Amino acid sequence: ASGSNQMQIDAGQKAFGAKQCQQCGLVYTVHEPEEEQLHREYHNSVHVLRFKGWIDEDIVAVYTEWANDGRIIRLTEQAPAVRLERLNELIKLVDKELGYASYIVPKTFVAFFAVRKQQIVGMCLVQPLTQAHRFMQIDGIDYCSEEAYEASCGISRIWVSPLQRRRRIATKLLRAVQLHTILGREIPMNRIAFSSPTDDGRIFARQVTQC
Ligand code: ACO
Ligand code: ZN
Repeated sequence: ASGSNQMQIDAGQKAFGAKQCQQCGLVYTVHEPEEEQLHREYHNSVHVLRFKGWIDEDIVAVYTEWANDGRIIRLTEQAPAVRLERLNELIKLVDKELGYASYIVPKTFVAFFAVRKQQIVGMCLVQPLTQAHRFMQIDGIDYCSEEAYEASCGISRIWVSPLQRRRRIATKLLRAVQLHTILGREIPMNRIAFSSPTDDGRIFARQVTQC
């Protein structure tokens, strides 16, 4: 529920108690115990977004227009355990907002973090695929691609911090996916499949894939 209409709280929703927290940015409905609980949990775990950087991090793009330290870094399942632990914590935070009950992480993946002002402001978790169809399930995750029957990778999750949306951060993350998921090969947009998209995800995917 809170995954959609993040930035467009209209008067109608306000009347029903939709509220955006000034600190964590989450949009939730006040006086709905489940949503208030979700907000508390989300709010209490935003500290996982603090990011001082890693030595020898794998930087795939630099965006000084975001901030001095604006960049996108890449991580795979072969990363050191502490870094994978960090990714897991981040996925838990993202899944809270997405309302995923049990979070499944693919065995083989490429993850991208967008970093700005010592904060993780976005992430994208990608599963490289050798062959795929319109609807498919790999490692327990459902994927569908609206137009293409063939896919080169599946977006398991894409997420941008609620306070940083509509600044093209997800667009840049997707560009990193295209260029830096498969070594030496650019993935065309129409070969990227999205896993059970939310409303936001569907609008975003339509916009960036032009289909
Ligand atoms: N409403 C309308 N259009 C949108 C929206 C939206 N909520 N989000 C993106 N777009 C379109 C716009 O055309 C936008 O360009 P514009 O701002 O110039 O009009 C274009 O897509 C590019 O958007 P970005 O700024 O690159 O997207 P952003 O950084 O805001 O991130 C995302 C989009 C990842 C969907 C973000 O809203 C988010 O994290 N939402 C919550 C989590 C979520 O739903 N993730 C997708 C789940 S599906 C999956 O993970 C496979
Ligand atoms: Zn909050």
